[in-house]
Amino acid sequence: MSSALLIILIAVAVVFGTPTENTKNGLAPREELSSGATFFNSFWSDGKSKVSYKNLAGGKYSVTWGEGGNFVGGKGWNPGTTSKVVNFTASFNPEGYAYLTIYGWTTSPLIEFYIVESYHPSHIPGTTTDPADKGAELGNFTSDDGLYSVRTKMRINKPSIQGTTTFRQIFSVREDVREEGILTFANHWKAWKDMGITMGKMNYMIMATEGNDSSGNSTVEIF
Ligand SMILES: *[C@@H]1O[C@H](CO)[C@@H](O)[C@H](O)[C@H]1NC(C)=O
Ligand SMILES: *[C@@H]1O[C@H](CO)[C@@H](O)[C@H](O)[C@H]1NC(C)=O
Ligand SMILES: *[C@@H]1O[C@H](CO)[C@@H](O)[C@H](O)[C@H]1NC(C)=O
Ligand SMILES: *[C@@H]1O[C@H](CO)[C@@H](O)[C@H](O)[C@H]1NC(C)=O
Repeated sequence: MSSALLIILIAVAVVFGTPTENTKNGLAPREELSSGATFFNSFWSDGKSKVSYKNLAGGKYSVTWGEGGNFVGGKGWNPGTTSKVVNFTASFNPEGYAYLTIYGWTTSPLIEFYIVESYHPSHIPGTTTDPADKGAELGNFTSDDGLYSVRTKMRINKPSIQGTTTFRQIFSVREDVREEGILTFANHWKAWKDMGITMGKMNYMIMATEGNDSSGNSTVEIF
């Protein structure tokens, strides 16, 4: 897309508050746009996902998806900050592998991080579809009235914000799942460092919905 067209589209979205609708079976690379004045939006799919992602006004979005493929999208901040306190609410209705999660990246080192607030119990976040592969458990800690278990694993030659490459994933997974609340990012950042992970420079951070070979719908708002 030409930058002039992109600017016009963003201007239209800002002026009219029109939702940006993506019905993307085909969107392969990550798409990022600023959605109105306040929130950043990122949406990625592997191109196999039957997913319709829609930006709504303010910090809100909705997504509906069907079987096949992997996607992750949502609204947040770019760059994120370690001091971010996220106030969120969601209607999250997945069938199969799906997460409602703070999602983002650091660079140098390149790390893909997740703070999973809710998920479908058929798939433990941070594991692959091979149930034997749970990733390494680093420990547990409490934050925002919940117990989080922390897992890490390496992804070998997978898509990233720096192209297809090898990088670490880290997951905080909330034991008592929730679809609304206050999330204190700094507690996770500190826990990850205390558990021996060298975090990098903050890139973007979003309150995401991720689905992989599953179906469902999710409407999420951050404030
Ligand atoms: C979260 O945001 C909502 C909407 O602005 C507000 O009503 C609520 O008080 C906020 N919650 C906290 C704990 O700040
Ligand atoms: C998504 O599901 C497919 C098919 O079950 C699997 O091969 C793939 O590893 C999964 N992707 C992730 C990121 O777990
Ligand atoms: C963390 O908590 C989970 C759930 O209670 C438990 O299964 C696991 O053994 C704990 N892990 C560590 C490293 O303490
Ligand atoms: C979302 O999923 C739930 C549970 O499957 C379903 O009852 C509801 O109708 C769905 N809503 C939309 C808008 O698709």
